[in-house]
Amino acid sequence: MAKAAEMPRFKLNTGQYIPAVGLGTWQAKPGEVGEAVKYAIKVGYRHIDCAKAYGNEKEIGDALQELFKEGIVTRGDLWITSKLWNSDQHPDDVPLALAGSVQDLQCDYLDLYLMHWPVALKKGAQGTAPEDFAPLDTKATWQAMEKCYEKGDKTKAIGISNFSVVKTKALLSYAKVVPAVNQVECHPMWQQKKLHDFLYSQGIHLTAYSPIGSGGSWFTKHVKVLEHPVLQSLAKKYNKTPAQIALRWNIEMGHSVLPKSTNPERIKENLHIFDFKISEEDLKLFDKIEQVRLLCGDDLWVNDTTSPYKTVEELWDGEI
Ligand SMILES: NC(=O)c1ccc[n+]([C@@H]2O[C@H](COP(=O)([O-])OP(=O)(O)OC[C@H]3O[C@@H](n4cnc5c(N)ncnc54)[C@H](OP(=O)(O)O)[C@@H]3O)[C@@H](O)[C@H]2O)c1
Repeated sequence: MAKAAEMPRFKLNTGQYIPAVGLGTWQAKPGEVGEAVKYAIKVGYRHIDCAKAYGNEKEIGDALQELFKEGIVTRGDLWITSKLWNSDQHPDDVPLALAGSVQDLQCDYLDLYLMHWPVALKKGAQGTAPEDFAPLDTKATWQAMEKCYEKGDKTKAIGISNFSVVKTKALLSYAKVVPAVNQVECHPMWQQKKLHDFLYSQGIHLTAYSPIGSGGSWFTKHVKVLEHPVLQSLAKKYNKTPAQIALRWNIEMGHSVLPKSTNPERIKENLHIFDFKISEEDLKLFDKIEQVRLLCGDDLWVNDTTSPYKTVEELWDGEI
């Protein structure tokens, strides 16, 4: 079993090291997520990916407290990420939202705080109807994120999520603090090569969400990444599962991964990807995989009147 000390890490532009595998917690149900976090940390995970929008930070915080009290880990052993929700993008709300996540997660500080989407909703908005949108001012939001980073007590690094090359470039034109991470959909069927090349040229780390192709929920297209023949055949060749091949591919690309599971066997399986490498020759097989972006709930952020994006293509600046 992988121990924490063996967990590879990637160096960020802040000098810190992000553990290569983090437990995803989106759609991890109440009553299940706390148990999943406790189990994951006991079997060697040291990185938990959270967000206010997932509605489960309090239960994760309770689980972390139990682990600290039992002496299983200390706060300093862990990497905890959370995300600023779209309805907290007003500069006055950014430090409050950050403090709220730290309080719910009961973890003193975050290792990384991400701007969840390049989308702004009105404070307290519960829906995504046109009247719920607020004017997008990414510069003002990022400057508020920078202030939180410079203050340093609540988050050790800041970053972005769901930013295209065009949107990342725009942010870099005024950023005083270069984002440490851009967290985006990335798996063998949506490899993000252009974005990868741009981010790595700027010293920004890519963290892969939906790294095993998500679960086919309402938010994603029903494309079965794990059934792809390349993953199936490499799984047989390396005596691994298709999920482990998908995760290892991202690691070979230099990306950290956030597989979500609340199932103990799969939580363990998703960590056991450091006892093999995919050969250079086999990595070439991935170049031929047809590309399909799985995320489709992103049309929530598109409307004709109040959103800056009239189409999904505009949201992603054509990178679809
Ligand atoms: N920044 C963003 O906007 C954003 C968006 C999406 C996701 N994320 C983050 O990324 C995390 C992962 O993304 P995701 O939840 O979309 O998808 P994912 O991790 O690619 O897939 C999760 C699904 O795969 C199943 N699964 C887990 N391990 C498996 C295995 N070894 N074999 C077969 N099936 C397996 C899970 O079910 P069981 O639980 O039953 O195992 C679940 O249905 C999220 O939880 C969240 O933390 C961030």
